[in-house]
Amino acid sequence: MTTSMATADLQVSNRPFESNRDTASPNRNLTPVTTAVGPKGGLEVGGCGLSDLARRYGTPLYVLDEATLRGNAQAYRKALASHYPGSALALYASKANSSLAITAVVASEGLGLDAVSAGELLTAVQGGMPPERIVFHGNNKSLEELQLAADLGVTVVADNWSDLELLASLGLSQPVRLMLRFTPGIECHTHEYIRTGHLDSKFGFDPDQLEPVLRHLQGCSWALVSGLHAHIGSQIFELQPHRDLAAVMADALKLARELGHPVSDLNVGGGLGIRYVASDDPPSIDEWVRTVAEAVAGACQERGLDLPRLLCEPGRSLVATAGVTLYSVGSRKEIPGIRTYLSVDGGMSDNPRPITYQSLYTAVLADRPEAEASDTVTLAGKHCESGDVLLKDLALPPAQAGDVLAVFATGAYNASMASNYNRIPRPAAVMVHDGMAELVQRRELPEELLRYDVLPERLRPVV
Ligand SMILES: Cc1ncc(COP(=O)(O)O)c(C=O)c1O
Repeated sequence: MTTSMATADLQVSNRPFESNRDTASPNRNLTPVTTAVGPKGGLEVGGCGLSDLARRYGTPLYVLDEATLRGNAQAYRKALASHYPGSALALYASKANSSLAITAVVASEGLGLDAVSAGELLTAVQGGMPPERIVFHGNNKSLEELQLAADLGVTVVADNWSDLELLASLGLSQPVRLMLRFTPGIECHTHEYIRTGHLDSKFGFDPDQLEPVLRHLQGCSWALVSGLHAHIGSQIFELQPHRDLAAVMADALKLARELGHPVSDLNVGGGLGIRYVASDDPPSIDEWVRTVAEAVAGACQERGLDLPRLLCEPGRSLVATAGVTLYSVGSRKEIPGIRTYLSVDGGMSDNPRPITYQSLYTAVLADRPEAEASDTVTLAGKHCESGDVLLKDLALPPAQAGDVLAVFATGAYNASMASNYNRIPRPAAVMVHDGMAELVQRRELPEELLRYDVLPERLRPVV
């Protein structure tokens, strides 16, 4: 059951909101690191009152705390520098939340970025990410996307034979840096839709294809095989699968080098989980990096391999806990003996995770986060879909229409997975920092949603 925080857990005087906050690893917190209770008892993030933000920018509103994002980025950098004996780079998996502002922040923290479409690539480059720190993924890249990646000079992750055929057909004058993605055959405990390392996955070459691919590429002057990649899944709390992955990847590295490829990069993907509800207990960024770094270094030493550069691709653990979504409470429906629905002005179009993965969240009323949670409600979205429920059995203080509700840990796979279902405009996003809020994504307008509709002449209404 997801509940608002018990009053006893909260510090009543000045005044971080969450007790036992892990400032060194913000992925382990329910709320952004700057979350505090203001003088009138309302919640603040980044020094900005959440209700004030809702009034100023409207709801639903994505709020992103810059300090949390930077804290996570710095935690990855620091851990890689202290636990891996060779060089290393964390790449932000921008599918988690792709925008110019987030790119600019992670680029300024010295991270790289992974992109999976022309749109994410353009966002990365225009957000200031140097092309040499970008890798381009995708299990079905188009010729145009591959041409764009080659023109930009980013590293291409070859996922399958089709990528290789399309790249060969481009007639490139300079060799493209290639990273080969393969399926490592590692099971982990997470939702089946976000598990990618097991053999039945649409991503990557089968492990038994690796050798034929490496042999094929020996004869391709357009390709420089500079890296190997595998990713086992997302929202993972276990560490052992990452150790197992290191051994599989070191074997692949040995093979690639024996076949004459100058492979310098080993990319172990992302996957570290975060805390969505109080019972979630993910490893810290430091623990995760230490596990991966020691396993990769150890596996390479055992095989007599020079250390590769270690790359990882965190998405969720970098950006999720930086995000809070604000909604306005609207209608209420009580079904005696069954449940009470409280509806908000967003739902599955701004956060498709509950309906897709049955994901759990934590939420409070922005103005009364510490009030007694005497009511139990089911938080429903406004979409025409019975399954459009954001939170079941949420303990809240009695809420009225117009109250602002804050849902935590929505910084990853919310804005980036948002849709216009029911022709509902996507929310605005603001980044908050030191008492300042800046718009980083403008709210869509209903009339803008008609922009791509074309009404054939013969169907036009006669006036
Ligand atoms: C190839 C690849 N790398 C990195 C990630 C990021 O994973 P996470 O957000 O769990 O860190 C994903 C997510 O699915 C992925 O597919």
